[in-house]
Amino acid sequence: MTDNARSFVTVLASALSNCSLYSAEHEAVEELAGKALSILKELIAETGSLEIMVVESDLVVNKTPLRDMGIHGAGLVRRLKRKGLSRVDFLKDITFPELKQFITEAADADRQIRPLPHVKTGVIDVRLSGITVDVDIDTDGLFRIASLQSERAKKVYQGMSSHGRLHVAGIEEIVATFIDAFRRKANILKLISPVASFRDHTHVHGVNVAVFSMFQAETLGARDELLYDIGVAALLHDVGKLFIPKEIRDKEGILEDREWEEIQRHTIYGARYLARAEGLARIAPLVALEHHLRYDGQGYPRLVAKERKQHLFTQIVAVADFYDAMRSRKKYRDGSGTAEILAMMDQGAGTEFNPFLVNHFSKIIAQAMHSSF
Ligand SMILES: [Fe+2]
Ligand SMILES: [Fe+2]
Repeated sequence: MTDNARSFVTVLASALSNCSLYSAEHEAVEELAGKALSILKELIAETGSLEIMVVESDLVVNKTPLRDMGIHGAGLVRRLKRKGLSRVDFLKDITFPELKQFITEAADADRQIRPLPHVKTGVIDVRLSGITVDVDIDTDGLFRIASLQSERAKKVYQGMSSHGRLHVAGIEEIVATFIDAFRRKANILKLISPVASFRDHTHVHGVNVAVFSMFQAETLGARDELLYDIGVAALLHDVGKLFIPKEIRDKEGILEDREWEEIQRHTIYGARYLARAEGLARIAPLVALEHHLRYDGQGYPRLVAKERKQHLFTQIVAVADFYDAMRSRKKYRDGSGTAEILAMMDQGAGTEFNPFLVNHFSKIIAQAMHSSF
């Protein structure tokens, strides 16, 4: 089985890259799709169906991890993740047009993968105890998605403190899970984690800011890579806080000037750390650097170029950042006070925040709150 599974992954990945390089009608794509189908039929004859899962950065085919799949394996993992998919099942009786449609849609950054009778897609939850498949999108399921992502983020953050290596695959997995939840029309508010204790909540805040940022971007029309990159950048916007001495970071009283200056440096520490991380969306260090700069450029850090404007992605993250920071304050924790927070944001429209984005954010939050789901 394994040899055949490896050839299938290789041929499928080549078909995908040829398809995005040329077109779905190109003869190389036709030929590779045909070849992929015949290998797939052989595999299905043996096992009844073929299940491909993405676990971290590995492919698991019919429960067997395929290691060292090189450039083809990595290419397939990347494409599936960017579509928000962590699992694809090819079923008995799959036809050539179905496989071809799957290849065409998976290869195209602007298209969604539509359901097919013999190709099923979904998202998986990877738990410490093993692998469980999560296809439900009920309220409990959503809360589970949210808390699981916070757990994952916590592990990634723990790895980063003390300047460890950034676990990029873990970050990708979190963002891909949310993209999938959005695609299934999940209510945004159900994906937000409650605030943990005051200390040690940077990872929860990161995940929430990612959800609020991706929600804005998605409703403004961002798809696939754009949506994905903004999720990654938002999730990591505050990582620089991990490099600030604990006694300053966790101090609960009024900060002295030098302590406040150190806190402000989380923007620079974060940008520096993320700029060194391999394989990370290039926008991430920029968002970390700019997220307190304000729309009018009056915030911090004080940068050399005075006229520097925040990148649009940073402006989106800044809106999400403020909203989540305020809602996690003591007096708003019970979920009340949304109108008050939105009014504060409105006050800052044009100075602290991009006014168009504030207006848009108010609308989508109001819609989410009134949605019956
Ligand atoms: Fe920050
Ligand atoms: Fe923040």
